[in-house]
Amino acid sequence: MNREDIICSCMDITKGEVEDAINQKKLTSVEQVQDETEAGTVCGACVDDIYQLLEEINGKV
Ligand code: FES
Repeated sequence: MNREDIICSCMDITKGEVEDAINQKKLTSVEQVQDETEAGTVCGACVDDIYQLLEEINGKV
């Protein structure tokens, strides 16, 4: 997946936007990503992808 790829098709949010939010705001949970970006707030299909991104960026917890 590239930064330009849509991670959340419901809200039209790219992987890069979610990555930047996680990095800049030090997000650690899917709920925080939902609050900050609105990704994952509609059908929930992208929640697993968001979770994976969080793990990649923050390291496995
Ligand atoms: S694809 Fe993200 S909420 Fe539906």
